[in-house]
Amino acid sequence: MSTTASERTPDVRTPHDEAVIGIVTVSDRASRGEYTDRGGPAVRDWLQRHLTTPWRVETRVVPDEKPQLEAALRELADRAGCCLIVTTGGTGPALRDITPEATEAVCTRMMPGFGELMRAASLAVVPTAILSRQTAGIRGTSLIVNLPGNPSAIADCLNAVFPAIPYCIDLLEGPALDTDPELLASFRPKHAKPR
Ligand code: MTE
Repeated sequence: MSTTASERTPDVRTPHDEAVIGIVTVSDRASRGEYTDRGGPAVRDWLQRHLTTPWRVETRVVPDEKPQLEAALRELADRAGCCLIVTTGGTGPALRDITPEATEAVCTRMMPGFGELMRAASLAVVPTAILSRQTAGIRGTSLIVNLPGNPSAIADCLNAVFPAIPYCIDLLEGPALDTDPELLASFRPKHAKPR
């Protein structure tokens, strides 16, 4: 697990004016330094381009080991105060792919619509999208969303599900997130309380 020096870990959830977003790369080779992580930076770039409200990132790189990924997800949700945690990699059928199982193990409630929508959107782009077992769920007040490891999958999947994420985080009483409407309009029902 690695954290860059500029990324601090608070003991408590930060005030609602700053969202903390966790990005976890799940990869044996990236965690051993044999491969430059491209998935994590692709998630970060996508968020930087689309979010208009203040946020900061907590990044982790872990091997495809269930206990290590579970520990990283628990730490980001419970101690780092992340309202959203995005994982990339480890969602396929390969023997070492354990991301969906680790996600389910730490979540109290699953959000199956996220996986369904991401697979449907990805199938329009690549027939192997059916091989991703990606899912999403809630631990406490944190939403955890799995993305495949291929950097090109990041935008396919986030473009599909991110419109619903700000309202999901509102419902979890987290910080207000907004996206640039010219790039991606997030959806809040008319009756939603103004943030
Ligand atoms: N979805 C999108 N949008 N783009 C992709 O390239 N790759 C597929 C699938 N979903 C892919 C995708 C492939 S080849 C696999 S094996 C699974 O995601 C799982 O990838 P992962 O093990 O890197 O998570």
